[in-house]
Amino acid sequence: MIRLGILGAGARGSDTYGRWAIGHPERAAVAAVTDPEQHRRDRLGERAGVPDEHRYADWRDLVADAGAIGLDAFVIALPDRLHVEAAVAAAETGLPVLLEKPAATTEEDLDALAGAARELNARIWIGHVMRYQPFWRTIRRLVDAGTVGRLVTIRVEENIGFWHYAHSYVRGNWRNLATSSPMVLAKTCHDLDIIRWFAGEAPSTVASLGSLTYFKPKHAPAGAPSHCLDGCPAADSCPFYAPRYYAEALAGTDGWPVALLGDDLSPTGRIEALRHGPYGRCVFHSDNDVVDHQQTVAEFPSGLTAVLSTSAFTGQNTRTVRLTGTAGEIAGNLRTGALEIDLFSPAAEMPGLPEARPGKSFTREPMGHRVFEVYAGPVTAAGEPDHRGHSGGDEALIDAFITALEQGRDGGAAPDLEASLDSHRMAFAAERSRLDGVIVHWGRS
Ligand SMILES: NC(=O)c1ccc[n+]([C@@H]2O[C@H](COP(=O)([O-])OP(=O)(O)OC[C@H]3O[C@@H](n4cnc5c(N)ncnc54)[C@H](O)[C@@H]3O)[C@@H](O)[C@H]2O)c1
Repeated sequence: MIRLGILGAGARGSDTYGRWAIGHPERAAVAAVTDPEQHRRDRLGERAGVPDEHRYADWRDLVADAGAIGLDAFVIALPDRLHVEAAVAAAETGLPVLLEKPAATTEEDLDALAGAARELNARIWIGHVMRYQPFWRTIRRLVDAGTVGRLVTIRVEENIGFWHYAHSYVRGNWRNLATSSPMVLAKTCHDLDIIRWFAGEAPSTVASLGSLTYFKPKHAPAGAPSHCLDGCPAADSCPFYAPRYYAEALAGTDGWPVALLGDDLSPTGRIEALRHGPYGRCVFHSDNDVVDHQQTVAEFPSGLTAVLSTSAFTGQNTRTVRLTGTAGEIAGNLRTGALEIDLFSPAAEMPGLPEARPGKSFTREPMGHRVFEVYAGPVTAAGEPDHRGHSGGDEALIDAFITALEQGRDGGAAPDLEASLDSHRMAFAAERSRLDGVIVHWGRS
């Protein structure tokens, strides 16, 4: 049984990692927890049976006591800006680390982390949950089997969803560069990781365009006040009117995203939070400066090109993808789990897909290419796609981490950290390209 020290008992630390350990007592235990917010560390501590003396206010004290507590591994779910210092300190103990993304928020910090990890021969997993989602693993299986031949293009669309964008990137924690990090890192390092994972190598060039185009004072409806509940004249017509999300559509929810309103989630508590707090702000009068749309393109030494398109202006909050290869193409929609595999090479063959459910298959006349539909990803008891826990990615990531630790130091290798960190380097390159109007050549500053 793997004894975990959880750094940060917020949403990820408690509700993802802590909850998994509590649900799998034969495989893992929360042996220690740290959070400056006493109610958070005690909430996880009580549920997981962590002794009082192993509940810490600051992560440094937990790391210092790792040997005495008898920890086997750390999970770092702290705010972004604490990741590097905590990860290096944790790695210095010699124990493996599961580090939430983004691993670092600046290039300098990223280099420091990579350098320390090399020196310490550290075992560090990054919380790139997309790699673990059955949807992407199924695509990966198809690509690895050579089903579509040699990959030539990848197109990933990150459809953030209008309300999700307003929540996290206009009103919430990732809205401002000075206190968080660029959207291309904070949000889409996952997508860049997927692209890098499929490419199998670092890119040769990266370029990017995009801006904050809409969520600015000049687009505010006439007479819009600073908070929606201060009598906004556009309450009925504005898609971003906050009470419609938090007090109506999400009235039955007290987890993410509503939990961020505060501790009192009663109907009156919500209204109070919206009246004065950040989540009730007019989206045109916030202190946001991160982009609301961005297009990033990368080319790889193999000749593969990839495009990542990110937009706030989508109804659904999901990802769509299309990969083309020399023998066929794969198109997918994470929301429905649907993958369409269109094979135009007579020699192309479909491999077994254990994580997918078969759909229709047919031949497209007159050229005779064969089309297969499959559905990948977890489903609910009612047979609907189940997107809880990042569409199965959280569960699979933790399982992979714990399985590797169960196999011991020699058996359970960590994923290639340098390749994982390339996603962050791609994000920094994209941001430099966007701001300076240049194409960034990999490895040259
Ligand atoms: N992999 C993913 O898809 C994914 C999804 C969401 C969030 N994240 C990342 O996970 C991390 C945690 O996010 P979250 O949503 O749980 O945030 P959160 O704010 O809910 O949790 C962070 C916790 O860290 C605590 N903390 C702050 N300073 C501390 C200190 N010095 N010592 C100990 N604890 C301290 C905070 O009080 C808070 O409870 C972030 O880096 C975020 O970007 C990753």
